[in-house]
Amino acid sequence: MTEDELFLTAILNCSRSALYVNPQVLSADQQKRLDKMRNQRRLGEPVQYITGFTEFFGHRFEVGPGVLIPRPETEVLADVLIRALKAQDRKAYFILDIGTGSGCLAVTLVKELPNCRAVALDVSSDALNYARRNAEINGVMERIEFVERDVFWFMDETLHRFDAVVSNPPYIPTCSMHHLPIDVKHEPELALEGGADGLHFYRYIAPASRKVLKSGGVLAVEHGDGQSKELQNLFAITAGWDKIQSFKDNAGRSRIVMAQKSNS
Ligand SMILES: C[S@@+](CC[C@H](N)C(=O)[O-])C[C@H]1O[C@@H](n2cnc3c(N)ncnc32)[C@H](O)[C@@H]1O
Repeated sequence: MTEDELFLTAILNCSRSALYVNPQVLSADQQKRLDKMRNQRRLGEPVQYITGFTEFFGHRFEVGPGVLIPRPETEVLADVLIRALKAQDRKAYFILDIGTGSGCLAVTLVKELPNCRAVALDVSSDALNYARRNAEINGVMERIEFVERDVFWFMDETLHRFDAVVSNPPYIPTCSMHHLPIDVKHEPELALEGGADGLHFYRYIAPASRKVLKSGGVLAVEHGDGQSKELQNLFAITAGWDKIQSFKDNAGRSRIVMAQKSNS
């Protein structure tokens, strides 16, 4: 859809095809809203913040300032993990989503997997408010526990044992933060910056996840373009994982690493 189509479908609460099948003259209020949206866009605000929602894995997610907009590559992360867990054929699944943001991963996983529950963890209360809202509009509120906590504390404290840990942590190296496109600069720094080399979170999450996973449990993470080799080494050398696999996004770039907790 073009940006104008996105704005108009949001204003008129209709599908793209309805714009052309039943063309409507905008009321004065609707025209004012459209002008405002176009102006916000000219100032670089992301389209999804302006319309207030986006789609992820075919489901609707509300977004706005204070929360990361779910990306297509994260749909690949969800897909890879859903396939891996379905292949394990467990009777029920209990998943930890680290840095849940809008809740796109936690909500999608509990919707797509049978008997699945999740803990959705984030240090940001703004993000968690969106995640709760998104769980509500997707009808899975009662299957997700929302925890406002720093992951660096949570992993030591929790008594839960999970079938899977999933995370799309902040992974942009500090020195690249100044060069982000203007849209991305509107998104929270807390969701983006991953330390000097972008790998700060993985160095902690990889070993810490082993402690909270059940035997045979799976860790699946998204990472930045160009970080795959280093990340696979990190898993292989420091954390002691089996079946370390890398997956590409739809543009053919390696963006996901998945590993299984070894029994040793
Ligand atoms: C890249 S965003 C991912 C959001 C969402 N999972 C997605 O894929 O769209 C990373 C998230 O991690 C959260 N975060 C940053 N530092 C954290 C920390 N120390 N503990 C827990 N969450 C953190 C941010 O608030 C943000 O929501």
